[in-house]
Amino acid sequence: VDADAAWAAEIKRLAKARNATILAHNYQLPAIQDIADHVGDSLALSRIAAEVEADEIIFCGVHFMAETAKILSPEKRVLIPDERAGCSLADSITADDLRAWKADYPDALVVSYVNTTAEVKGLTDICCTSSNAVDVVASIDPDREVLFLPDQFLGAHVKRETGRDNIHIWAGECHVHAGINGDELTDQVDSHPDAALFIHPECGCATSALYLAGEGTVPQDRVQILSTGGMIDAARATHAKQVLVATEVGMLHQLRRAAPEVDFQAVNSRAACPYMKMITPAALLRCLTEGKDEVHVAPDVAERARLSVERMIAIGN
Ligand code: 13P
Ligand code: SF4
Repeated sequence: VDADAAWAAEIKRLAKARNATILAHNYQLPAIQDIADHVGDSLALSRIAAEVEADEIIFCGVHFMAETAKILSPEKRVLIPDERAGCSLADSITADDLRAWKADYPDALVVSYVNTTAEVKGLTDICCTSSNAVDVVASIDPDREVLFLPDQFLGAHVKRETGRDNIHIWAGECHVHAGINGDELTDQVDSHPDAALFIHPECGCATSALYLAGEGTVPQDRVQILSTGGMIDAARATHAKQVLVATEVGMLHQLRRAAPEVDFQAVNSRAACPYMKMITPAALLRCLTEGKDEVHVAPDVAERARLSVERMIAIGN
């Protein structure tokens, strides 16, 4: 038995003994994705976390995702293999920042991307993910002002799609996606002229992609702005032989599984999230062996955050 197979067998054995379900985000290392019970985008994983029957949820992703699972399933134990797996986007706004911003717009409705701390969610009216952000904002009375946070590129996408001008956008960003920029995209499009483009809305290059489509450099129907889950659906449906993918590189694993005949290439092959990659095979083994790291959310914070997260999982797909 080789070391990888022995590791996989041990993970399965321990998970069964603990009555634990392993969830993995699309950006996790391939070995972690392959061992998980469910792999998906942040919305899909939140929905599963809300319904799963197991006693324990092992969240292979970053800390805010595990917190969201705990908010939705407070009676379950939620473990993350390394609690230091944070998120630069979630760090770009604090609860105090949001309190001050709300004071400037007392009548506005607050829409927060799920990439936020539980405390920020507690000050939020509706959470969203990249797969339902447009639907969430479109569901709000058009006359009501909206504060959208923390991602400026996703905010710009939502503003463009909904055509709203009463939306104020926080200037946060994810350092991994912001680093996938327009110049790189243009270079890749030049060297792969027949490729389709799958672009995550957190990317710095999302506006450039639409610009390239607008000026006809890439045919409009070959450019799609998608969440990570949306990319898998689009991979199954595409007629393109080659697709340039602008998001974290872990995504390529599920895309290649979903459509093995398509050649998927990263727009920026250095776009790896250091936090997602902290969840190593060794960390997952330690987690299941020692029951660590457990994720705690103070009950009063969780109580305040729950409504905004429940609204999120009820809207869109
Ligand atoms: P989605 O899986 O919801 O597209 O999120 C992307 C992301 O950056 C999560 O950190
Ligand atoms: Fe956060 Fe960006 Fe990493 Fe996603 S890819 S977890 S948004 S730092």
